[in-house]
Amino acid sequence: MTPAANLIDGRFIAAQIQSELTHRLAALKARGVQAGLAFVRVGEDPASKVYVGRKEKACAELGIFSETHVLPEATSEADLLTLLARLNADARVHGILVQAPLPKPIRQEIVYATVLPTKDVDGFHPVNVGKLMLGDETGFQPCTPAGVRELLVRAGVKIDGAEVVILGRGNIVGKPMAAMLCQKGRAANATVTICHSATRDIKAHCRRADIIIAAMGVAEFVKADMVKPGAAVMDVGVNRVPDATSKTGTKLVGDVDFASVQPIAGRITPNPGGVGPMTIAMLMQNTVRAAELTLR
Ligand code: GUN
Repeated sequence: MTPAANLIDGRFIAAQIQSELTHRLAALKARGVQAGLAFVRVGEDPASKVYVGRKEKACAELGIFSETHVLPEATSEADLLTLLARLNADARVHGILVQAPLPKPIRQEIVYATVLPTKDVDGFHPVNVGKLMLGDETGFQPCTPAGVRELLVRAGVKIDGAEVVILGRGNIVGKPMAAMLCQKGRAANATVTICHSATRDIKAHCRRADIIIAAMGVAEFVKADMVKPGAAVMDVGVNRVPDATSKTGTKLVGDVDFASVQPIAGRITPNPGGVGPMTIAMLMQNTVRAAELTLR
């Protein structure tokens, strides 16, 4: 096996998905609809700027209309909700994405509950969270876990009946990921364990997993001795760590110690170039679907 033979190429698969969307976008256009997505960013969190920038670029490449609202750090919750009410009522906007994290005084749960469920392309509204739990596929599913699942499917990793260990119980990845994979249905039906900071023996759980999904935000946490040979390892982490050899003095690493895990994993996502591009592809897919649903 060549060293890279077990890599799951997220950039390639994301590009494939985006190219599939061009047909649906053309069909929308033929019916007089240009899909549209509004971004809302509050404050100057550097990572959020980068993420929103990448999402804007993906829209531009696909011909999706996008507009970005940048609000100052000191914005009140009431002003943010007023903007969301305006976007909810704007027919050009089929999807609304409020980039997390939000400044502390703003209650994230109120913000996400204010976006119309039919425009909630992030899948964070309680109605969409509930639909995911119920296995009701009419809702929108959160982009990062949906992207991880799609990578597994397109890489030919068997999910049905698999032992899946998810590291991290966050609302953006861990919890929705578990709900998706334990559903009865296609590309699901897994036995899912969620590990978190109070789990007694994370290594023992990981060692019996056919699929490990690392999403707890601890740099290079998953080591070779935690992985069953042949397991699929999906790295959702983005952690900035000190690096004396880089110009900036820092570098980005995932939640998986890639160098040691890659030789024993059956399949593994590189990081960057694994899960990240898929989050964007799934956002584009949700936005196209939101636009299509307005025509029904
Ligand atoms: N911050 C980190 N991931 C996400 C995401 O998927 N959506 C939004 N809105 N914010 C995020």
